[in-house]
Amino acid sequence: MEEKPVRVLVCGDVEGKLGALYSRVLSIQKKTGQFDLLLCVGEFFSSTPEAEEEWQRYKSGAKKAPIQTYILGAGSEATAKNFPSADGCELADNITYLGRRGVFTGASGLQIAYVSGCEAPQEPAPPHCFTPKDLAAVLAPLTASSKFRGIDILLTSQWPRGVWHYANNPEVNTKSCGSSALANLADKLKPRYHFAALEGAHYERLPYRNHVVLQENAQHVTRFIALATVNNPAKKKYLYAFNIIPMKAMDPSELVKQPQDVTENPYRRVAKDKRETPKTGSGATAEEEEQRTQFFFDLSRDRGGIARGRGRKRPLEGNWSGHKQPRKHPLPPGECWFCLASPQVEKHLVVSIGTHCYLALAKGGLNAGHVLILPIGHYQSTVELASEVLQEMDKYKVALRSFYKSRGERCVLFERNYRSQHLQLQVVPLPLDRCATDDIKEAFVVQAQDQQMELMEIPQHSDLKQIAPPGTPYFYVELDSGEKLFHRIQRNFPLQFGREVLASEPLLNIPTRADWKECKQSRAEEEAACAQLRDAFQPYDFAWDD
Ligand SMILES: *[C@@H]1O[C@H](CO)[C@@H](O)[C@H](O)[C@H]1NC(C)=O
Ligand SMILES: *[C@@H]1O[C@H](CO)[C@@H](O)[C@H](O)[C@H]1NC(C)=O
Ligand SMILES: [Zn+2]
Repeated sequence: MEEKPVRVLVCGDVEGKLGALYSRVLSIQKKTGQFDLLLCVGEFFSSTPEAEEEWQRYKSGAKKAPIQTYILGAGSEATAKNFPSADGCELADNITYLGRRGVFTGASGLQIAYVSGCEAPQEPAPPHCFTPKDLAAVLAPLTASSKFRGIDILLTSQWPRGVWHYANNPEVNTKSCGSSALANLADKLKPRYHFAALEGAHYERLPYRNHVVLQENAQHVTRFIALATVNNPAKKKYLYAFNIIPMKAMDPSELVKQPQDVTENPYRRVAKDKRETPKTGSGATAEEEEQRTQFFFDLSRDRGGIARGRGRKRPLEGNWSGHKQPRKHPLPPGECWFCLASPQVEKHLVVSIGTHCYLALAKGGLNAGHVLILPIGHYQSTVELASEVLQEMDKYKVALRSFYKSRGERCVLFERNYRSQHLQLQVVPLPLDRCATDDIKEAFVVQAQDQQMELMEIPQHSDLKQIAPPGTPYFYVELDSGEKLFHRIQRNFPLQFGREVLASEPLLNIPTRADWKECKQSRAEEEAACAQLRDAFQPYDFAWDD
């Protein structure tokens, strides 16, 4: 089926700033071509005199909306007067009020469900609030059909409560934000996209599943996106553009494709005790013991059961010439210690969260500045990263280099793609004056020779993928000069090699700390160290800028 996608723009709270919104829309259209629809969630109007004056110009036809615009009803009592009734109607040329709640199907077949306003604290509901009856009225006609699979788009003003579970944290007060009734609605409606506003925050959640793995047939994923207010001074994102083919016109197998970074459903949380694996006592093998060493998570003994059987070597795959897509998860993200969406993650060690990567304090780090750059989604090694993830990883490298330089330190980066499931790029700072780059390089080369391993220098701009096709085990070092050292792992690679070299007498000269078990800290110490690092790093943290 070849279907033309619908080009959609979605906007957060407009708060009466129509001129600013439409000039932004026009400039986007100038660059990328015409869009079909503009959907506005949150508070469209404002009761300030300037906003009212501006609205009169659109209402009278003096100014015109350059795109078909669909808006939700009032988000507060103050703006309720702008809406004549609970039913939808055209408020001005090209500006249509959808109504208090309902389902709208466009000419293309695109199906959009919407709920205006906030959850009513009690009955009778004021005009800017919705009630359980409103939600039932949206749901009933859709789910009455046994063929119901979901809808294309859900628009709500308020956030669904708890949408952040299993995912990246939003900049909102998660204690009070959102409506549980909307969370329940979103869970049942299974929108492919869900937009909300009212919080003045921009948040793009990792996509979540609508099915239970191995228990239900695969279904499409949901992307939740919250948008900020038009022209907000902090320049948070308020306009989101995307193309969508209505699900009715899509090939079912195409529809249910699962992206790499998909997470659990935030609205169907499994009771914690069900997730616990039974204790396995001291049955762990030495190999499993080693697996636990790199360090980010609390790989305590009672988790031993999870590691069982996963340390096995993966077969080297023969033909990578046609390889484009990163491979499927070897294990679901809920079970990986390093996937940010995983319940196992130790959030108190997280220093910064970007779009595709995050930064965490190393557990049992070699020194206080020892951090890890990790992809948020599940990737085994650098060579499997999608290009946007790789780019952000580079941004973190650059930010960390200048951060440590300001503290009189240079960074050494290393990665071991061997007996690890999830990429951890280790970043260790060394004092500029005590450890020259050449000395660091020599220490690595000499200590590799001592162990009969060949550590080759590879060209600075070489693509690691060409040297190590995905699936090849390797150890890799990057120096602050940009020089790169590479070792193709054959067998029995010493798992602590990177630490051993850096801790050795010619460099940091802290040989006992090569063993991470000598560097354990209490949770309170880890929290304090992480908070301190987060504050210090913040001026260098691009994730804070957008
Ligand atoms: C309404 O929007 C369309 C584009 O979707 C535009 O072509 C048309 O001129 C607009 N109508 C008015 C009255 O401005
Ligand atoms: C490797 O894969 C490519 C593309 O899939 C194919 O054209 C080529 O014949 C394969 N080579 C071998 C040796 O299997
Ligand atoms: Zn993972």
